[in-house]
Amino acid sequence: MGESIYGLQRTHRCAEIDISHVGQTVTVMGWTHKRRDLGGVIFVDLRDRTGILQVVFNTQVDSELFKKAELIRSEYVIAVVGEVVKRAPETVNPKIPTGEIEVTVKELRILSKAETPPVYIEEDSDVNESVRLKYRYIDLRRPDMQRSLMLRHRIAKIARDYYDDNGFLEIETPMLTKSTPEGARDYLVPSRVHPGKFFALPQSPQLFKQLLMVSGFDRYFQIVKCFRDEDLRADRQPEFTQIDIEMSFVNVEDVLTVNEGFVKKAFKEALGIELETPFIRMPYKEAMDRFGSDKPDIRFGLELVNISDLVENCGFKVFADAVKNGGSVRAINAKGCGAKFSRRDIDSLVEFVKIYKAKGMAWIVVEENELKSAITKFFNEDEVKAILDRMEAEPGDLICFIADKNEVVYDALGQLRLELARRLDLLNKNEFKFLWVTEFPLLEYDEEDKRWVAKHHPFTSPMEEDFEYLDTDPGRVRAKAYDIVLNGVEIGGGSIRIHMQDLQAKMFGLLGFTEEQAWDRFGFLLEAFKYGTPPHGGLAFGLDRLVMLMAGKNSIRDVIAFPKVQNASCPMTNAPDFVETKQLKELHIKTDA
Ligand code: AMO
Ligand code: AMP
Repeated sequence: MGESIYGLQRTHRCAEIDISHVGQTVTVMGWTHKRRDLGGVIFVDLRDRTGILQVVFNTQVDSELFKKAELIRSEYVIAVVGEVVKRAPETVNPKIPTGEIEVTVKELRILSKAETPPVYIEEDSDVNESVRLKYRYIDLRRPDMQRSLMLRHRIAKIARDYYDDNGFLEIETPMLTKSTPEGARDYLVPSRVHPGKFFALPQSPQLFKQLLMVSGFDRYFQIVKCFRDEDLRADRQPEFTQIDIEMSFVNVEDVLTVNEGFVKKAFKEALGIELETPFIRMPYKEAMDRFGSDKPDIRFGLELVNISDLVENCGFKVFADAVKNGGSVRAINAKGCGAKFSRRDIDSLVEFVKIYKAKGMAWIVVEENELKSAITKFFNEDEVKAILDRMEAEPGDLICFIADKNEVVYDALGQLRLELARRLDLLNKNEFKFLWVTEFPLLEYDEEDKRWVAKHHPFTSPMEEDFEYLDTDPGRVRAKAYDIVLNGVEIGGGSIRIHMQDLQAKMFGLLGFTEEQAWDRFGFLLEAFKYGTPPHGGLAFGLDRLVMLMAGKNSIRDVIAFPKVQNASCPMTNAPDFVETKQLKELHIKTDA
């Protein structure tokens, strides 16, 4: 068959046709979304990526053609030639953009037949996800999946235009490279030519983009795949995409300003939403104290309140001891929940915080003339009053307290805050609340390994104000590092880098590398810094997460064409899979699997 579409030339996509085309002859092609046979008249909803168009066959008009139309089944791919006609007022379908018209068919070609698909082609299908992913090519026909991937394309296009307009160059960096320390496990690729040696797939292009600054490219960006072998979650995939940025001769504010400009443009052009910039800048310490999280969801209140000073000497040992041992007692006023929640609801909150290592959760239900609580008996009247005042408690409220090490208090109350918001239905998907979290700690103490690790990565610059603590009190040193947070999700992060060889060497020292180890792993970077290095910094957006939130989805799998499932495999291709023994031999690999 020389002419693959039987000599027909498509003139429009389905939903590109509207009332202005009435009277025209059009040729459309697509999938049979639905076929309704009303005896003598057959309606076919023809579908393509733009939407649905109704095409009509009438036995009175052409009985040969009608007989052919009777053969059409769901998901058959067909081509029709016909005339666009206005529908009678009572048959207008206001729910679809093409609802005012239909096409009276004059010619039909069945381009391919289809078996009954294992996945319904409908909005927000509730088919089991592993089935959806096994038949992903069909799942991707669903209108919401098509919209999500079109949105993703749009955001990537806006990014390219925006960064190009602002003097950034897109430069590719290697996929076969050396392990870089972004904190996750590497995916390794064995070398055939170098027995026993491995490439690592990049966890990010971090070192290469810094080297591009040494080379003088000044402003770099790349839309790039990154690979991390870590436990998967709804917002984590083993391969994901960053919009990766690096800039020379900049300070923190410069980086934040240019990049929030992109976010503003993306929301305006892709969703028609006008965001107000500059976004809030909030130091890490404030984020933790107010929200118990370094990625606070600021769509709602329910903030944490520190009452340590009020209970440090009280008679309730749990509270007093927590403060004396260097921890704290903090609380959330769950406004109105005292009246709303049953005793069982409250008990389930107590169980909830235990997931986050809290030993318990004390609470007070405030009523008009009394307090319901198991702990008020441990306090005198003044203490109770001071606590209620601090919490701005009113009748109907539920006050939830946690006493522990700060780490546990923050985490448990931060999570409780989110749980309360879910139960109170405070999370509006159409509301977009951004902030920059700044001044992260440079280092984090790893209790297991008994050593300091970089909170962001080892190339992040400390704040000058805190240089003096690098030797004496490393935990106190703040970094020129920042994250951009949207509705409680970290959608990007970056830092101003160390650009001096001696400071970089010192940083490696703090992280427990000997000089030899540092040179062995990052010698190429340290060497590069000898030859004239501009001060530089940058960031990377998680494109998948940004698109997920913009599309109103709960998982990045819904905005990735071919994602992996929970156990990091692909149900469609069956990857990862065994390979031929011959291939392993060539790679000098023996397995015991
Ligand atoms: P970071 O490790 O914070 O920084 O990554 C940047 C952003 O990428 C997204 N992200 C992920 N998305 C999906 N699945 C994953 N497994 C995953 N891991 C990270 C997040 C995150 O904010 N080189 C630095 C950037 C820099 O300093 O310039 C980096 O990679 O949205
Ligand atoms: P107990 O005296 O251990 O029965 O505890 C009395 C109340 O304090 C109970 O409601 C516990 O849930 C709560 N509680 C116990 N440990 C903590 C803690 N670390 N922080 C807050 N409340 C706690």
